[in-house]
Amino acid sequence: MNKIAVVGSGYVGLVAAACFAELGYSVVCVDNDLERVAALRRGEVPIHEQFLPELLDRHRNVRLQFSGSLAEAVKSCSVIFIAVGTPPKDNGEADLSYVESVAREIAQNINGYKVIIEKSTVPVYTSDWIRRVMLLTTDVQCDFDVVSNPEFLREGTAVTDFLYPDRIVVGADTRRAADLLRDIYSPLTTGKYYASVDKIPEPDDVNLPPRMIVTTAKSAELIKHASNAFLAMKISFINAVANICEEVGADIEQVSTGVGSDSRIGGRFLRAGIGYGGSCFPKDVAAFRAVAQECGYDFGLLDEVMKINENQRNRFMKKIRTALWTLKGKKLAVLGLAFKGRTDDIRESPAIALVEQLLAEGAIVTAYDPAAMKRSKEVFGDRVTFTEGVYQTAAGADALLILTDWDEFSSLDLKHIRQQLRYPIVLDGRNLYSPEEMEEHGLLYVSVGRRPSALKQLAKVS
Ligand code: UGA
Repeated sequence: MNKIAVVGSGYVGLVAAACFAELGYSVVCVDNDLERVAALRRGEVPIHEQFLPELLDRHRNVRLQFSGSLAEAVKSCSVIFIAVGTPPKDNGEADLSYVESVAREIAQNINGYKVIIEKSTVPVYTSDWIRRVMLLTTDVQCDFDVVSNPEFLREGTAVTDFLYPDRIVVGADTRRAADLLRDIYSPLTTGKYYASVDKIPEPDDVNLPPRMIVTTAKSAELIKHASNAFLAMKISFINAVANICEEVGADIEQVSTGVGSDSRIGGRFLRAGIGYGGSCFPKDVAAFRAVAQECGYDFGLLDEVMKINENQRNRFMKKIRTALWTLKGKKLAVLGLAFKGRTDDIRESPAIALVEQLLAEGAIVTAYDPAAMKRSKEVFGDRVTFTEGVYQTAAGADALLILTDWDEFSSLDLKHIRQQLRYPIVLDGRNLYSPEEMEEHGLLYVSVGRRPSALKQLAKVS
């Protein structure tokens, strides 16, 4: 059986390593951050991800090892996944220097046939560059293939996305490498894993077993960027439609249900709000835009996607100002800091950007997030008061702001919220409630792409 090395223990690397161990492989997960390696060895789980603690408990020191030595991992494994970061540069391009240095080190230690597989999101041509760098680095005549096997996991559901994928994309330019990857994923593609008694529970609406799509390496690289750009475009599209809804008095929730029911369009990723965030969409749309530019194609559509996304936050800021008039000295209760629910990740979070803006305009912010408090405290320090829960956050506030779609924020005790707030104003950037139910509780409710609840209601209760 193949022994697998996964280089990088971030979201993608750690989840992939744990899931390959779950599929029965002996895996070594390598990181050059020795403190992180030590923490992983001690049993710490650095990210908030459902089922990851269970998988790490199950496989740590059995089928899954953590190591700081890439050289040793290369020597002992014939299959090497690269899952290191590809952060954005100032011009939007992805910074591939970590990928390059990993490729060099693999070449320096190569001792037999290796398949090097890109799992990080990388621009088209990266597989060519890896091949080139390796050939330039080593004078040992060793055979190797470079494969692109992009990952489509979402934070929060990363483990189930890995084990129950919609599709597995393998971009391999040789039959030998394609067959090896077919073999590695066979527990999923043959359905063997799904028959196991202690499998990770299956999510709703999955089509099993997943399909494997074998392409060229370049096509696979493009599939990843194009998928993320398309999803981001869907979100920006519905946000633009939401803005029209506000102008004409229509309801975006009704409109997106109607539009999304067309099976050619699909209802997912049509939720209007304060725009997309996270470590992927903002970075990948900009990187894809830069790749297109580099190849000589002016992909202006993506500029619009980014512009609408940015505008969406500014529009929400305007709504806050309209509801509260002036912000200086106002006490605002913020629910949600993560870039979306079910994660502690605050990278490119629209909620964080909005809080920064509120603070800049002199508001006093009290905030709560079920998982992202620790990370948020690192950003805001004592500029924001962090509380233990929703109702404590709302106590005495001039308005409540819902900025992240956590499940627990969609089932609040509205009567209690009304009692806690100084003024009965709720601004919801995630459309978790209907204007009607907010009105019933005497709350002035402002959301996205829908009419605000009537002001006379506010006059009656305050
Ligand atoms: C995204 C993709 O969904 C994954 O398929 C991909 O593998 C991943 O990027 C990646 O490239 O690594 P992720 O960033 O974890 O996953 O989060 P999403 O669930 O896609 O949400 C991204 C942002 O869009 C969030 O801020 C979310 O609140 C927002 N969103 C999502 C909306 O505003 N409306 C929607 O309808 C859906």
